Amino acid sequence: MQITINDKTIEVQGQDTLLEIARHEGFEIPSLCWSKDAKHKSSCMLCAVKDMSRGQIIPSCTSKPVEGMQIDTQSEEVMQVRTMSLELLLSDHRADCEAPCSLVCPAKLDIERMLDYYDKGQKEKAVGLIKHAFDLPKLACEDCKAPCEKACRRGNIDAPVSIRKLIKELTDEMDAAVVDEVENVAIDKKLFQSRLGRFSDSEKIRLKETVSTPSNCLHCACTGRSDCQLRTHATAHKIKRPGYDMSSELQVMSKTKVNDIMYFEPSKCIRCGLCVYNSDNGFTFKDRGFGMEVILPEENKKNIRVELASLCPTGALYIVEN
Ligand code: SF4
Ligand code: SF4
Ligand code: SF4
Ligand code: FES
Repeated sequence: MQITINDKTIEVQGQDTLLEIARHEGFEIPSLCWSKDAKHKSSCMLCAVKDMSRGQIIPSCTSKPVEGMQIDTQSEEVMQVRTMSLELLLSDHRADCEAPCSLVCPAKLDIERMLDYYDKGQKEKAVGLIKHAFDLPKLACEDCKAPCEKACRRGNIDAPVSIRKLIKELTDEMDAAVVDEVENVAIDKKLFQSRLGRFSDSEKIRLKETVSTPSNCLHCACTGRSDCQLRTHATAHKIKRPGYDMSSELQVMSKTKVNDIMYFEPSKCIRCGLCVYNSDNGFTFKDRGFGMEVILPEENKKNIRVELASLCPTGALYIVEN
């Protein structure tokens, strides 16, 4: 059978989908709800292509070739469909990629990561980060007006985290401690930044009652931010802010412990279904349409393998090894 992809004539055999054929021929098509060798159903439409013979936009990850088919993978129309699909997913994505404090620090210190080490009692690593960010760590923050504390989300709930005080506490202890060398990688501001916005009153109450850490930090940054496919595609499609404004009922910063090392954060789930189709009696869909959610019933937790986290294209399902 012969088909054409962007004017290239291709001889096709076997059971491959248009996505696999096009990629094999060197055409780039993005995907989110598809993963090689995993069970899936098309839902995200990021892999959209146009079937010119029928004048239809189709998902390439589930479409099979038909004799004489003419496929367009790169026109303006196709790109617009992919961008709209991403915007739609992000409109319901109640999450932050980077913590607001780290984004505004003039010294480019990854404050959230430093506080994470602090809260876990790994002070040597916290000091290591500070040493990387400041030439003179003992004078860190000396002349700074602390935009981090003004941006701190905890300030919307009760009081901002005392970031400068904690840095001083850590650097005062520095000489006595063996400092772990930890690289402070500056945040790349060219990457897509999902922004959470303001908390509702009920969210403030819930977070005040449930989030308690030694530093008081809420740990706003997303655990999946360094390898999130949603973020990578949003960056590639030059998405600054989602174009839709639909409010979500999903609870922010609310995570479920799946097992000793695995967590599930529903507000970062794009309902791609990969964890549902690839776990037996594990994750499942609840409701339909815009209100649809992915849930993990308590009794199903024992059926979840840790490898499932690697299928998740966002920071919704992740492993934390201390
Ligand atoms: S709560 Fe923590 S992570 Fe969030 S902005 Fe404040 S210091 Fe940063
Ligand atoms: S899941 Fe991805 S896009 Fe969403 S907050 Fe995390 S890193 Fe950002
Ligand atoms: S948790 Fe991850 S894999 Fe599962 S449906 Fe949500 S985004 Fe997809
Ligand atoms: S990758 Fe094809 S619909 Fe999601």
